[in-house]
Amino acid sequence: MNFLILNGPNLNLLGAREPGVYGHRTFDDFYAELRNHFSNHSFLYFQSNHEGTLIDKLHEYGFQIDGIILNAGAFTHTSIALADAIHAISTPVIEVHISNVFKRESFRHHSYLSEACLGSISGFGLDSYRLAVEALIQHKQND
Ligand code: DQA
Repeated sequence: MNFLILNGPNLNLLGAREPGVYGHRTFDDFYAELRNHFSNHSFLYFQSNHEGTLIDKLHEYGFQIDGIILNAGAFTHTSIALADAIHAISTPVIEVHISNVFKRESFRHHSYLSEACLGSISGFGLDSYRLAVEALIQHKQND
């Protein structure tokens, strides 16, 4: 299967950004391990701090690959446009969060994206991405 991992704003700073919340590991380091773990599958990875670029990537890949793992960062809590983009494409999308957003500030408790996604995974650190890939593989097998 082919997957797209799409990371939103500030996630380029993983490893350095609020390590008490997001951990000490860079995404590149984790991504190498993830690809190794799922060596029978292919991955594409993009990160952008710009809402429109994330929407463009959903449009670009949302009709041609098997699954998208989206961590939209703070756009999760603000972006109707991203929710509309997820509705517009045919590829299933799983929303992921590194932190458990429900244990944090109340403004993080609402996601505009959840209702447009196949499901949401929050709070397992970077392992949230691996769990999302497992869920997409399972989903495809049940199709
Ligand atoms: C996050 C949670 C969001 O609330 C926050 O704005 C982020 C990261 C997470 O992965 O835990 O940037 O999506």
